[in-house]
Amino acid sequence: MKIAILGYGTVGSAVVETLLKNQDLIKARCNEEIIPVIALARSLKPNALIPIVNDIDEVLEREDIDVFVELMGGIDLPFEIISKILKRKKSVVTANKALLAYHRCELEKLAQDTAFGYEASVAGGIPIIKILKEGLSANNIVSIKGILNGTSNYILSKMTEDSAKFQEVLKKAQDLGYAEADPTFDIEGFDAAHKLLILANIAYGLRVKPEDILIEGVSKVSDEDIYFAKEFEYTIKHLGIAKIKDEKIELRVHPVMLNKDKMLAKVDGVMNAISVDGDVLGESLYYGPGAGGKATASAVIADLIDIARKEKNSAIFGYLNDTSYELLNKDEIYTRYYLRLKVLDKIGVLSKITHLMSEHQISIDTFLQKPKKEKQDYSTLFFITHQTYEKNIQILTQRLREQEFVKDDVFMMRIED
Ligand code: HSE
Repeated sequence: MKIAILGYGTVGSAVVETLLKNQDLIKARCNEEIIPVIALARSLKPNALIPIVNDIDEVLEREDIDVFVELMGGIDLPFEIISKILKRKKSVVTANKALLAYHRCELEKLAQDTAFGYEASVAGGIPIIKILKEGLSANNIVSIKGILNGTSNYILSKMTEDSAKFQEVLKKAQDLGYAEADPTFDIEGFDAAHKLLILANIAYGLRVKPEDILIEGVSKVSDEDIYFAKEFEYTIKHLGIAKIKDEKIELRVHPVMLNKDKMLAKVDGVMNAISVDGDVLGESLYYGPGAGGKATASAVIADLIDIARKEKNSAIFGYLNDTSYELLNKDEIYTRYYLRLKVLDKIGVLSKITHLMSEHQISIDTFLQKPKKEKQDYSTLFFITHQTYEKNIQILTQRLREQEFVKDDVFMMRIED
């Protein structure tokens, strides 16, 4: 089986290296040789292990290619290219979660009996798509909660363990090949949102776009939040959450305060982990490397092996499960909240804050005023509220921002119990 790689970066080169390194084993597993014959790259790579070209037509025009592996990134261009390839009845494997978050259903429909694999798009090497489509296919999925962005988890772990500064750790994650070409996708939560939408689409048949859901990243988490979390036995994690609530689907991506004894709280570094709650099985947890060339290559090659085996399994072949589920309105999210704000340290400030809270039906569960250094005029206050609606907390944070005694921004994070 001959393959072409569209995009020869960290992942593309890892796919080729692994196919060559494990070629005997791979042949034994699918009874066929999987041969990378050509790759497309922006610039020619002198040390590449296979011929590299920078004209896409040179690759697409080759009739001898059986499978095209799309690792270019972006949305519109790969959508156009993959559509063309699938119309020619040639198989495609992609790791492109942004593309799939927008166009998975259209592409699967177009593929029909042609193989279209995308295991590598969610959680790197963890075979979570197979798990949902095959292993858990007897279950109604009650919830999915996942650490889906390795870069964010790496940053939060290093800020917690080593008191490292955000920018330094981000730079290291980029050097290690974990971060997206544009790291905003990682640190503002979009990458995790793309992955969550793919999982929610498989689990619930829900077709919504990233702009329809609540997305926040780790970029505003500070060392003060880490300090509070440690004091009160929480760990800060960035989670993608999909769950059934009142016959609707709640979807959100944001940093959370998680009780430090929860299993997801113990997942550190670039690792990903996904907890799936099924109505028959109950909770199961999947853990593994979620970013980097090798992890992604492992999932890309698993799809290639499935194609070589000509298995018409549901992980590769068309599987659409439209349902009547609707998305839960963001305002109706109901949870506990953490608030951090810097205020002038003077008489009456705390009472004004608690008054605003009671006006908006918000009750305090935990409060901490961080002792300030002698010469400072401002104090940092931390609150955890009892459960309330997102709508209430959004109005409250807006009102707090308007107060003349509040300095800087008011930071809010949700608690995941
Ligand atoms: N940038 C992604 C991450 C890579 O950090 O998880 C895998 O999709």
